[in-house]
Amino acid sequence: MNETLACDAHVAAPAQAAGQPQPPGFKWPEGGVTRVPFQVFSDPAIYAQEQQKIFRGPVWNYLCLETEVAKHGDIKTSWIGETPVIVTRDEHGAIHALVNRCAHKGALVCLKDHDNRNSLTCVYHAWNYGLDGRLKSVAFQKGVRGQGGMPEDFDPAKHRLQPVRVATYCGIVFGTFSPETEPIEAFLGERIGAFLRRNMDHPLKILGTHSQMIHNNWKLYAENVRDSYHATLLHTFYTTFKVNRLDMDGGIVLSDKKWHHISYTKRATLQAAEEYKAANVHSARYDSALDGPALLDAWDAFDDQITHSIQTIFPTLVLQLTLNSLAVRYFIPRGVDKTELFWVFLGYETDTPEQEKMRVMQANLTGAAGLVALEDGCINNFVQRGTRTSGDQSAFIEMGGRVAESNESSRATETAVRGFWHGYRQIMGFDQ
Ligand SMILES: [Fe+2]
Repeated sequence: MNETLACDAHVAAPAQAAGQPQPPGFKWPEGGVTRVPFQVFSDPAIYAQEQQKIFRGPVWNYLCLETEVAKHGDIKTSWIGETPVIVTRDEHGAIHALVNRCAHKGALVCLKDHDNRNSLTCVYHAWNYGLDGRLKSVAFQKGVRGQGGMPEDFDPAKHRLQPVRVATYCGIVFGTFSPETEPIEAFLGERIGAFLRRNMDHPLKILGTHSQMIHNNWKLYAENVRDSYHATLLHTFYTTFKVNRLDMDGGIVLSDKKWHHISYTKRATLQAAEEYKAANVHSARYDSALDGPALLDAWDAFDDQITHSIQTIFPTLVLQLTLNSLAVRYFIPRGVDKTELFWVFLGYETDTPEQEKMRVMQANLTGAAGLVALEDGCINNFVQRGTRTSGDQSAFIEMGGRVAESNESSRATETAVRGFWHGYRQIMGFDQ
């Protein structure tokens, strides 16, 4: 867990939330975090402000896993908001994050998802950079046949790939544009950091990846993963096969600043509640059996009885551990109504072959075509379509109360959703 302070040159000044004009005609409605104006999901002006205030603001953004840049010369491309970023491992073992934008004309420098190279060369005019982003050479700097070339006072040291501050924690590489972002440990807070260590402080092995385009504003997915209320109503599989239900013991933990959360469930504590039948919940009507029940034969990896957990780190990182299916999810805004969702399924290097096989099999629970999470890719689009022409109306978010605080006795609550909006309003200056 360390932090690399990038040089100050070219680092964009942090956008300050306070004092910046709000989009014309926009005012957060009465009710604070219990009301969310639908305008925030469709307004291009708000979307543009988010790119500055949030993604270039005081947050640590997920970039990649350390294991993806394990060796000298390893390169992984990623994004902070819409800004393309390159992560590299140099010959000294240091990790760098650089804006993926040539200092000459601004072209993307790295085009592949991952690569291994000793240096970075822009394909347009062959400007060549070290793995730390410093400009090493410029094609035809001295001209050709004694003619042309850069002016005599051209100084390569003044032209480099823009560095991004980097921090690592539990094998995750984070980046921030803001010099004001607090150290990663403080940003996460004690409970979030501890649970991250529980799940991720092991030698990680990537078992597979996939991605999907979801047709909704990025904040609808940020809400969705904090929404323990919907999990057993929308997701038939969870309820029918008793993987995660609200009549199991569990709780919601919010970070100190309420931005991040953990939702956890203890499967063995199920005491079937009448409320599922009384509410005429569609997901409780099925009396089905799996042809392959071994899918759910999880092993107990920890001694805390927790068998399902979803953890978020503001703004766009999710860690899931459902039974033995460990995965990182991160989502990238691709426009006001489009989001790319990435899944990285993980095991530990110490897993037995049988355990690895089980993790791969349980990866079928989630993802674009999974048994559980496929509904989320759809439902967020339903909200996008339902709200698109109703910017002056608001969501009503009072399940479990009107405040954002931890609740370790019930998950019939939207408290973590309110926690997200608490952070969002703070950073955007919408809580003024
Ligand atoms: Fe869901």
